[in-house]
Order: sequence, then C-alpha cells, then structure tokens
Amino acid sequence: MSYIIKTKSEIKKMRTSGKLAAEVLEMIKKYLRPNISTEDINQICHDYIIYEKKAIPACLGYHGFPKSICTSINDVVCHGIPNKKKILKEGDIINIDITIIKDNYHGDTSKMFLIGKTSILSKRLCKIAQESLYLSLKLIRPGIPLYKIGEIIQNYVEKNNFSVVKEYCGHGIGRNFHEEPHILHYKNKENNILLKKGMIFTIEPMINAGNPQVRCMKDDGWTVKTKDRSLSAQYEHTVLVTDYGCDVLTRRNNEKISQKLFNKN
Ligand code: MF3
Ligand code: CO
Ligand code: CO
Repeated sequence: MSYIIKTKSEIKKMRTSGKLAAEVLEMIKKYLRPNISTEDINQICHDYIIYEKKAIPACLGYHGFPKSICTSINDVVCHGIPNKKKILKEGDIINIDITIIKDNYHGDTSKMFLIGKTSILSKRLCKIAQESLYLSLKLIRPGIPLYKIGEIIQNYVEKNNFSVVKEYCGHGIGRNFHEEPHILHYKNKENNILLKKGMIFTIEPMINAGNPQVRCMKDDGWTVKTKDRSLSAQYEHTVLVTDYGCDVLTRRNNEKISQKLFNKN
C-alpha cells in the first residue's frame, strides 16, 4: 500500500504531537530579534521540547543532522543548520522548521518570521507562500486526487510570478518522520492516488522569488540554497484527512485559519 490510514488511537497521538510542534513556533517568536544567533534559537527550542514538553526533537541525529531544528535564512530554501556564527539581522526572513516526537508520533511544522523592517518583496514572498499552503488545505477531502494539491499551489505561486521548488516535497507522517505518500507542490497528473479519511501528511511548499533551481551546499551536506541566490520562503502544516475536509494538526493559536476545515463542495 502506498499510503497509511491512521487508527483512532494514532490520530489522537498525532493531534498531541502536532499541537506540541505548533507550540514551539509560538514560543520562539519573542526571541527572534536582530543579534540572536541561530544556535541560540536552536538551544531555546531544544530545551523547550525536551524539558517543558517532555518530547524529542526529531531532527537531531536524523540521517546525521547535527541540530534540533532547521533555520533557513533568506536564500536558504530548507535544512539550514543552526550555527553560533549565523546572526539574525534586520530585514532577514527566516524559516524555522520544527519536528517533534511525542509518544512515538511525529508533528512537523514550519513558518516564516520577518525580522524587523523587511522589503516589500520579502513580505510578498512570505505571504504568497502561506496563501499557497492555505489554498491547498481548503481543497483537501476524501476522493480528491493527490495531484490537485500540487496543482493549486503551483498555479497560485506562478500566477504571482514566483517559482515552486521541485526537489523537496511534503510527506506522509506518523511513527516515521517521512512516510508515503510524497506530496508534490507542483502538478504531476501521475500522482492520482485519491485522498482517504485517516491519512496524515504534511504540505510544505518552498517558493522562490527567482528561478526554481536549488543546490545543496557541499561543505555541510544539508543547507539547500536557491541557485540564483534569490529569496525563498516556506510554510508547513501536518494535516489529517477527515470525512468533512481536513484538520490542521499543527495550527497555531492565533493563526487565521480554522483547525477544522469543512471542504465539502
Ligand atoms: N522538517 C523537515 C521536513 O519538513 C525535515 C528536516 S530533516 C533534517 O520534512 F534532518 F534536516 F532535520
Ligand atoms: Co515535513
Ligand atoms: Co518540517
């Protein structure tokens, strides 16, 4: 089987894990000011996940990843490694990607933070990235072919003259960090699996202000940057397919989207 339907008890655990991952993003907001290093951001999140939430930071040691969270600034598309020499400055845009394990189940979510006064382009890029994710959430319900998710994201992003990264995708999630199916953020008609109630997966579009091509830095083996050094933005949620639409398991408290989306019709 190319996808996994979660049981009731698994769904309960995934709700807890999702909530917890979201709470890390809520908690870290107040620390994100010019002059903080990404290492310090990592340490605060690490301690909060372990000591306050009694959970495990899933990134730490994952295929050798050296830190507990990913911090991706400006032209870094994803998988930025926290570092004490990497200091936030006014005008930066940073994606913080949190994955936690609680009671053996994963929650995975990320968002952009804008540091101080940022450019009009930065603001627009982040806004379009978030809106592309929201549009895709609003069409999820049983019976929808998987490619519809990528289609709506790609159409919206390109209509706004930005580009979608093709090399990285969303994923099923549960006991494993990355499970079937792959969730592409661009249209691929072969991807015609139909969504079913009980599936849980992430949607995490990465969008670039310039060309879609990316490259992985050879020196650390992780950091992915845009090839043309243009800005990149990403938002990620973990979602459960319900009989009425979907539940956004990683919704943050003051986020302007409902936890339960009723997507019939
Ligand atoms: N959280 C990322 C995702 O959304 C994966 C990070 S893997 C790491 O799938 F090893 F870089 F942490
Ligand atoms: Co993910
Ligand atoms: Co993630």
